[in-house]
Amino acid sequence: MSLQSSPETKASPQWTRKHLLGLQELSAEEITLILDKAAEFKRLAASGETKLKALSGTVVANLFFEPSTRTRTSFSLAAKRLSADTVDFSSSGSSVSKGETFIDTARNIEAMGVDQVVVRHSSSGAPHLLAKYLKASVVNAGDGKHEHPTQGLLDIFTIREHRGSLAGQTVTLVGDILHSRVARSNIWGLKKLGARVIVCGPSTLIPPHIEELGVEVSNSLDEVLSETDCINLLRIQFERQRSAYFPSIREYAHFFGMNGDRIRKAKKDVLILAPGPINRGVELTPEVADGKHSVILDQVTNGLLIRMAVLFLIQQRRQQLGTD
Ligand code: CP
Repeated sequence: MSLQSSPETKASPQWTRKHLLGLQELSAEEITLILDKAAEFKRLAASGETKLKALSGTVVANLFFEPSTRTRTSFSLAAKRLSADTVDFSSSGSSVSKGETFIDTARNIEAMGVDQVVVRHSSSGAPHLLAKYLKASVVNAGDGKHEHPTQGLLDIFTIREHRGSLAGQTVTLVGDILHSRVARSNIWGLKKLGARVIVCGPSTLIPPHIEELGVEVSNSLDEVLSETDCINLLRIQFERQRSAYFPSIREYAHFFGMNGDRIRKAKKDVLILAPGPINRGVELTPEVADGKHSVILDQVTNGLLIRMAVLFLIQQRRQQLGTD
């Protein structure tokens, strides 16, 4: 199978990585390469070319050890749009319940002839571990509190699509920064592309020393509203919290929830993003989630294109290295 000979896409010789583990290690040029490839796929889809042959003859396995709706579905659809065969594995209902280890599970699925493994796991570093044990390429679909690189990329793609560039944009990440892998991937990617980043939330949900990543910190959403171009409302991750970080959900929503009053005080063209799933009435009200500033469903649409771009670039690199 030759990706170079695929009639639908141009070669991108700059991509040199076997895996996508995080945005921390990517350069601005590598991030832009993924965004540009996703934009190319979007143009092709708009012209009616939704099914491409680029990954024909390859296999993509989705290994999800944590729940997912958007990420798992869109990686699976992205692989199918590129004509790969797909394997969708969820730890629930699998032999993990009989004691099979994470590595053994991945190696057994790889033995079926898998080229790329997309993995989500509750432990930070799980994809990096797999990258050491597998011959297949590994794509991080969210590891613990560490990174969710394709979510960061689709958030950045969505902002770039609306604004043309990240440079000069002020992006405020609101909420549970402490437990959020989405926050970390956003910070790495946004800073590399020249955005100003503010993290905003109760002091208990802001990690110590986060300023060292080049972000500003605020404990008042009302204070930063007027200077913010894009607000990314992060979910309160109740499943990762081991103690009470704020007095009540009602109080959190009062101080940090995006609602109609705050939208009216924000910039006229403010963009509202949320990685999903959203807790309606907590991080944002239905009026905001479904209102004219919301690009939440654009993010989901763009997630498919970003995941197509990542799978495509990695498979192209595998072919260059002679590993398929
Ligand atoms: N944003 C995100 O990762 O959603 P899922 O958990 O549904 O994949």
